[in-house]
Amino acid sequence: MCIDTICPMKAFLIDQAIEEENFCNFESEREALRRHIKQKNHIVLYGPRNFGKTSLVKNIIGKEFKQTHPESFVFFADLIEVRSMEMLVSRLRAAFENSFRHSFPAKNLIQKTKRLLSALRPEINIDPLTGQPSLSITLSEQKHQDTIVFIFEMIQDLAKKMPSLIIIDEFQDIAIIPEAQAHFRAAFEITKDTPIILLGSKNHILSQIFANPNAPLASWGQDISMGKIPYTDYHLYIQERFSQNKNTISLETATELQDLVKRVPESINTLCQHIHINHENTDITLTIVNTALQTLLESKTSRFESYLAHFSDSEQKILIEISRIRIIEKPQSIAFIKKTGMTNKSVSRIIKKLWDNGVITKQKEGYELTDPLLEHYIRLYRI
Ligand SMILES: Nc1ncnc2c1ncn2[C@@H]1O[C@H](COP(=O)(O)OP(=O)(O)OP(=O)(O)O)[C@@H](O)[C@H]1O
Ligand SMILES: [Mg+2]
Repeated sequence: MCIDTICPMKAFLIDQAIEEENFCNFESEREALRRHIKQKNHIVLYGPRNFGKTSLVKNIIGKEFKQTHPESFVFFADLIEVRSMEMLVSRLRAAFENSFRHSFPAKNLIQKTKRLLSALRPEINIDPLTGQPSLSITLSEQKHQDTIVFIFEMIQDLAKKMPSLIIIDEFQDIAIIPEAQAHFRAAFEITKDTPIILLGSKNHILSQIFANPNAPLASWGQDISMGKIPYTDYHLYIQERFSQNKNTISLETATELQDLVKRVPESINTLCQHIHINHENTDITLTIVNTALQTLLESKTSRFESYLAHFSDSEQKILIEISRIRIIEKPQSIAFIKKTGMTNKSVSRIIKKLWDNGVITKQKEGYELTDPLLEHYIRLYRI
């Protein structure tokens, strides 16, 4: 048996950012990102929930950047659920320390940095002979160390000396902090010659930050969107893993399987993993796939039920109604409102809340549940 860290194994992984050996496709997005990084551009990466955004940027492109430039600095921050300026700054500060440690694993350096960041202004220098980073300390002229700008000045200190890359995940969560966007505008001005990739899992909130012409980050950066993985590529990916248990699957069945879970990579992996562990020497047919989906949902009953229990009765009613029709173009339509038995205002409020929280997603065709497995669960057990 192969242990992951020693010999990376091809598997159906879920609930985590994945590495190259388990990452399927997105070749054109990789190419676009590489090109933009080379040109030191600023990028906003859009993609639906669980489509591999974090894996692509952090584990593939970020790692590739470090391999191409052995002496480099990659700043990675995840801003999920930041709620205040204080939280935001402390998250960025922790991200700086973490990124610094990953980029320069020199002993004790990070502890020093940590101690110094709260009161002093460290300057990070690279020894021209050994290439080792070192710290020299000066008191900050203005006492502005608790600002986003201060952290970006430190990133800039490094960026002046070596190739650097800035990645900020779940960037849309700053939308809740009124003054944050202006601070980031000033911060990004400091690192304007460094490639920056911003990404997040709630596209509509992320795009609002850049679309509003009066907003501080109006028209900032260039957009890259992640599309769906071609059926044939995911078929090969599934077949490669199924063959470990001597199972086979035709392109036709693999296509139906992908459609069954709306081509969301994480849901495909969840379903395939369930099939993979329960079959050997089998030609996987559509009947097997459908049965596997039922048993998978059954095994997740308590997880789905405790998740649904977080929603009010009215919210659950709307989730059930959307699941029933799978996609709703106009939730304000009289027919939909009538089915929910609520007022127009309540429906609009709940739809906005579910959308902002990523529970439902808006596509060209309308609103739908973000998690295809939850939609199947509701259709099977709640309708
Ligand atoms: N290209 C891919 N190949 C195989 N599996 C993938 C791919 N992209 C995503 N996945 C699946 O999706 C899961 C989540 O990946 P990741 O966290 O990178 O997605 P994300 O788009 O950042 O998610 P979120 O919207 O929650 O931020 C992985 O654990 C894996 O199951
Ligand atoms: Mg992510």
